Amino acid sequence: MDRIKITGGQRLEGSLPISGAKNAALPLLIATLLTSDRLTLKNVPNLADVALLARILRNHGVDHSIEGKRASPNGLMGETYHLTARDIVDTTAPYEMVSRMRASFWVLAPLLARCGQARVSLPGGCAIGTRPVDLHLLAMKQLGAEIDIDAGYVVARAKGGLRGNRIVFPKVSVGATHAALLGAALARGETVIDNAAREPEICDVAHCLIKMGALIDGIGTSTLRIQGRDRLEGATHTVLPDRIEAGTFAMAVAATGGDVVLEGARYALLDTALDALKKTGTEVTETETGLRVRRNGGSIEPISVETQPFPGFPTDLQAQFMALMTRASGTSVIRETIFENRFMHVQELARLGAEIQLHGDSATVKGVKRLTGAPVMATDLRASVSLVIAGLMADGETMINRVYHLDRGFERLEEKLSGCGAQIERLTG
Ligand code: EPZ
Repeated sequence: MDRIKITGGQRLEGSLPISGAKNAALPLLIATLLTSDRLTLKNVPNLADVALLARILRNHGVDHSIEGKRASPNGLMGETYHLTARDIVDTTAPYEMVSRMRASFWVLAPLLARCGQARVSLPGGCAIGTRPVDLHLLAMKQLGAEIDIDAGYVVARAKGGLRGNRIVFPKVSVGATHAALLGAALARGETVIDNAAREPEICDVAHCLIKMGALIDGIGTSTLRIQGRDRLEGATHTVLPDRIEAGTFAMAVAATGGDVVLEGARYALLDTALDALKKTGTEVTETETGLRVRRNGGSIEPISVETQPFPGFPTDLQAQFMALMTRASGTSVIRETIFENRFMHVQELARLGAEIQLHGDSATVKGVKRLTGAPVMATDLRASVSLVIAGLMADGETMINRVYHLDRGFERLEEKLSGCGAQIERLTG
């Protein structure tokens, strides 16, 4: 199993490329199921989760080819995927696949919309929480599907396809909003989605669906209005930059001190997180090609944050921000309101000398003068990268085990960081 070795204390200088967004690429690949034409996706990040989803989609009958090249050692270009679901050959998404990649549960809506039936394994829980799918099923029922649960599978039928309707989500859900959007795009009649998630990745998928012929209003707001179409065509779409990767690297620069340009990053995609970062004493400025992040000397001011659905502070940056706060000049409180168990990084950060107290959905972080490198364990995607940030700040050597979590969501992380002066390397085997 690969490990990552970090020797802390290096400032980060230079520039690094931000890849296409994992959490847009996944639903965009799934959108291929909505049409028998070819969907071309550019700037697709080279990630384990994306490759696995492409293999899962092949089960359903999606053919795909990939053009990928690395422009230069640090000018990574995304890959271009050409995907075609000419015929759906299988409407079952098996447990062994869905349990490995939760987002593959999202094939439910397009399979129902296109084929009138689907049998999709319930994804089960994961490290950060129980991850229910009741809101996905609520949306499908509202669009006219009959839903049964049988032996751990969702068995869904929609004779004659889905019918447009009003869907009112009692709470904001990114995945359920994707499901409602993909289902409504091919439903008969109009669908209105109330309390829709507003994440930039939802907007990116909606923009791609419009290129495919979908009729969608209200993009970026919490009310989406979709006129269903009989069929959708192929299109070409470029995946938007990954705001979570950008926020992660911005926090890494704040943590080590330095001056780095994040090529391709856009401030508006994560403004709440960057506004909080600026309050810690980090400069973040927009450039022609991305974001410049600087912290030269000066202390890290303690700032308290609370995770919220977009446009609030992203839960996917909570662990990274906590790592930064472990070296702040005072005490901060970080509240996680989205997931019930997203503090697994706390114990690992404590191994490096962080002082963090947990109480319910909040963590009180008392900044310390120094962290000391030690062996730590990655537990989930974003928790593992918070350990990288802590390792970059710590004195001495930090060894991070189980880095396969990292590879799910960060493309060539150690290459991008070592390109900016970090002492970080991957030990394979
Ligand atoms: C998406 O997960 C992201 N994954 C997550 O990123 C992200 O943390 C999350 O949205 C919140 O922003 C992808 O985009 C692939 P939700 P999703 O439905 O859709 C509850 C990462 O690290 N809920 O918005 O699963 C749920 O339990 C991953 O890239 C229900 O109650 O998240 C949670 O408390 C981690 N019923 C809250 O809603 C449902 O049917 C928000 O979950 C669905 C969700």
